[in-house]
Amino acid sequence: MTRKMQIAIDGPASAGKSTVAKLVAKKLDYIYCDTGAMYRAVTYAALKQGVALDDDAALKKMLTNFELKFVPAAPEQLVYVNGEDATQAIRLPEITNQVSLVSAQASVRQEMTAKQQEIAAAGAIVMDGRDIGTTVLPAAEVKIFMVASVHERAVRRYKENISKGIETSMETLEQEISARDYKDSHREISPLTQASDAILLDTTSLNIEEVVEKILYFVKQAQKNE
Ligand code: DC
Repeated sequence: MTRKMQIAIDGPASAGKSTVAKLVAKKLDYIYCDTGAMYRAVTYAALKQGVALDDDAALKKMLTNFELKFVPAAPEQLVYVNGEDATQAIRLPEITNQVSLVSAQASVRQEMTAKQQEIAAAGAIVMDGRDIGTTVLPAAEVKIFMVASVHERAVRRYKENISKGIETSMETLEQEISARDYKDSHREISPLTQASDAILLDTTSLNIEEVVEKILYFVKQAQKNE
C-alpha cells in the first residue's frame, strides 16, 4: 500500500500554488491546507478588533480567543473566522496588502505553524505556503518550490480579478507582487526560501494542467523510492 504522504508546495505570491495544490489534493484524495488563508484570517480578525498588525504581544493575546474553521464547499472551501464567514473578505486588497506585517510576527508564526503541523500529522495532505518545506513540514516526502516571473504572476492575478469584477492596473499588480515578494523573502522568521531538498518548478510558460501533471509525476517517483 502506498504511504499517505505530506506534499509541501511553497513559492512567492500568485505563482498558482493554491489552484494547483487543490487539484493535486483532489486527484490523490488528500486534504488541502491553504496556510496563506490562515495568515489572512489572523489579519482579518486583527483589523476587525482594532489590534495593531505589528504588535506581537497584542496579536498573541488575540490568538488565545481565535477560532478558525475550514469548511469544505464547492467551488471553494469556506473560511470561518470567529464564527463569521470571511471567505471573500480575506481576499480583499485591504488584507492582501497588509498580511505581510502580521505574518512577520513571531507569535503568529509559532501559533500557525503548530496548527499546521497538527493538521498535517496524519499525512495525506497537500499544504501550500511560504515555509512549509523549510519549517512546517521539514520531513515532507515531496517538496515543490513553485516560481513564475513577476509579469506572468501579475497577468494571472489580473485575469482572476477581472473574473471577480475587480479592476486593477497591470502596473499596480506588478508593484504589489514585487513588494510582497520582498517582504516575504526578507522577514526575520521563516522567510520565503527554497528548501535544499525541494524541486524548483518554474511555471511561467506552463498551464495549470501541465503543472499538476508534473507534481503528480514527482509524487509517483517519491512513492517508488519508498
Ligand atoms: O499565499 P497567500 O498570498 O494567500 O499568503 C498570504 C500571506 O501570508 C503572504 O504574503 C505571506 C504569508 N504566508 C506566510 O508567511 N507563510 C505561509 N506559510 C503562508 C503565507
